[in-house]
Amino acid sequence: MNKKKTILSGIQPSGKLHIGNYFGAMKQHIRMQDEGEAFYFLANYHSLTSVNNGELLQKFTLDVVLDYLALGLDPEKCTFFAQSDVPQTTELAWILGCLTPVSLMEKGVSYKDKVAQGLGANIGLFTYPVLQAADILIYHSDLVPVGEDQKQNIEICRDLAGKLNRQYDRELLVIPEEYIVKSVAIVPGIDGRKMSKSYNNTIEIFDEGSSLKKRVMSVQTDSTALEQPKDPDKCNVFALIKLFADADLINETAQNYRRGGYGYGHAKKELLSLINDYFGEAREKRKELQRDIGYVKDVLKEGGKKARIRAESVMEPIRSATGLFRSFK
Ligand code: ADP
Ligand code: TRP
Repeated sequence: MNKKKTILSGIQPSGKLHIGNYFGAMKQHIRMQDEGEAFYFLANYHSLTSVNNGELLQKFTLDVVLDYLALGLDPEKCTFFAQSDVPQTTELAWILGCLTPVSLMEKGVSYKDKVAQGLGANIGLFTYPVLQAADILIYHSDLVPVGEDQKQNIEICRDLAGKLNRQYDRELLVIPEEYIVKSVAIVPGIDGRKMSKSYNNTIEIFDEGSSLKKRVMSVQTDSTALEQPKDPDKCNVFALIKLFADADLINETAQNYRRGGYGYGHAKKELLSLINDYFGEAREKRKELQRDIGYVKDVLKEGGKKARIRAESVMEPIRSATGLFRSFK
């Protein structure tokens, strides 16, 4: 029998999660908990590159845990934990960093993007991909489900794993593969650019009522009049509808667009109702979980324990191969 694949992914707790995060990453994470041995974590060390307020980071972290649990992540099926509960990660990141050419980090697209958006150019942000590589490699992960924008970071991770193995001439690390769902490569935001926290163009997963309605109604469209035929494939509202609707409804809506007499207002109402149906159950579940924060913290505690055991088993041969002295167990 084939060994179950080890699946790993992380998400930064750095603000409210949106439907781009859901369709680009979280949905796959939740599905894949049934397909292998899955490790999912809150990348809170990574969040320190942009969030420098302790209370806020704590809040964001618990919020993301609540989001995942409400959306169907099952801590019985996967190991769900906080990155900061596994100190072996930063230990490995240092070792990898010592094999990382500065020129490799200088090619980092994500670093350049973030600095262009106004994030301070700190060393943490510059070496972010090295820490991300350690996150992945410390569990001997095989498969990393992420959004398209993470492709380069996974390439860097594979590169660094190969470097360490070659340097010490043994198979200390497993070379992982990325897993990107092409059909939902980039979810557009309400302004048509990539949906992202940093563009203030998101529709949040757990928004509801009038606040959600306002966001949906402000999705940008062109000014084609109601009675005119419209091209669904050029419309942001339709792109979002496609994420939520089944094949029949997608066809029907596309025909409505092409026929004319169907306005963007109609499409937005359709979208709002689809979002409410899709996330309705999860919203209720989240409210319930919020009343039991003790349980939520226990989930992280248990997950952290399991993750540390695995990380230690990968780290020990690396300490030995690299010649690092340790006088305690
Ligand atoms: P943000 O751009 O809002 O800061 P992150 O960079 O924290 O989002 O992304 C977290 C995860 O969600 C990543 O795996 C990323 O690929 C995915 N993701 C974020 N935005 C989108 C989007 N608009 N479309 C598809 N996937 C996305
Ligand atoms: N960089 C990822 C993001 O912005 C988060 C992340 C950190 C991650 N470490 C990871 C994703 C390891 C996959 C594997 O979304």
